[in-house]
Amino acid sequence: MRAARIHAYGTIDDIRFEDVREPVIGLDDVLVRVEAAALNPMDNKLMAGYLKDFFPLAFPYTLGTDLAGTVVATGALVAGISPGDKVIARTDPTAGGAFAELAAVPARLVARVSPDLALASLAGLPTAAGSAWQALFEAAAIRPGQSVLIHAGAGGVGSFAVQLASLAGAHVTATASAANLDLVHALGAKKVIDYRHEDFAAISPTADVVIDTIGGETLERSLGIIRPGGKLIGLSAPFDTEAAKARGIDAQFLFHQSDAGRLAAVAALAVEDRLQIVVGRQFPLADTIDAFRLLLKGGARGKILVRP
Ligand SMILES: NC(=O)c1ccc[n+]([C@@H]2O[C@H](COP(=O)([O-])OP(=O)(O)OC[C@H]3O[C@@H](n4cnc5c(N)ncnc54)[C@H](OP(=O)(O)O)[C@@H]3O)[C@@H](O)[C@H]2O)c1
Repeated sequence: MRAARIHAYGTIDDIRFEDVREPVIGLDDVLVRVEAAALNPMDNKLMAGYLKDFFPLAFPYTLGTDLAGTVVATGALVAGISPGDKVIARTDPTAGGAFAELAAVPARLVARVSPDLALASLAGLPTAAGSAWQALFEAAAIRPGQSVLIHAGAGGVGSFAVQLASLAGAHVTATASAANLDLVHALGAKKVIDYRHEDFAAISPTADVVIDTIGGETLERSLGIIRPGGKLIGLSAPFDTEAAKARGIDAQFLFHQSDAGRLAAVAALAVEDRLQIVVGRQFPLADTIDAFRLLLKGGARGKILVRP
């Protein structure tokens, strides 16, 4: 089969599109014929070696964690998933394997989805929607009526966070660049701030909760708009929480954990057409390097997919 792999830590120019042996499944794995896989900024961080203390890679490493496809075989101990089932999954980042024609995934990381849905776009769900869900409902425990500011509302995580917070009855403000203001409004944000031309810290309503995937100055300046007792959930990188504590703000760095239950919850919302999966661009698997170039350049508006 064909797969996009790296043979050492490096840059996107080190990605190779190669003929490799089909994966062999373990007793508790399922073998999935990949219909689409989604890029995440984490794929680039893994490739560069930035995350090697958490996720040490073994080479050659097949890139990609988020996939949608059809089960073609199951290990002897797998229950509840059968060949022919349509599924989505987020593989363990250390294992990767999504940017390939076939992927072996532990059954505990797989969620079945309705056969009626367009399968490819569902590949955009696992990391982005899973992180948004974990940030809003597990870390911040948002409640109806709360004021929530979501940075990067047109991004992978942000586009799901805007929708999920709106569905939960929050008053959502988001930041985005000018080209994406309409999109983020349509996803449910009551107010969208053009972060390149407006000062969000001056015009955002006081927030009960801020979800931040940007970090740095954006994260620091967000402290000024959160009410005492409010929450700041940062996802871009671990940060010093002391300044937040001094203002009575509960700040935490969130590290997304794969969870099939959470995946099933977001997939169910997509099935009911209550959660839109914004797909920016799709590339053939052979053009994975071009897909990464777009990810790094920015401006894709939603998820970037590769299709075997
Ligand atoms: N900790 C975790 O477990 C975890 C989980 C998921 C993601 N993350 C991290 O979160 C970050 C975002 O991930 P993603 O998948 O959402 O990325 P993405 O899909 O590439 O989206 C990035 C978004 O950032 C926006 N943006 C850039 N600069 C901005 C600024 N100064 N203010 C507001 N928005 C800005 C861009 O908006 P425009 O296009 O409108 O300019 C773009 O939509 C990455 O660093 C990723 O590694 C961490």
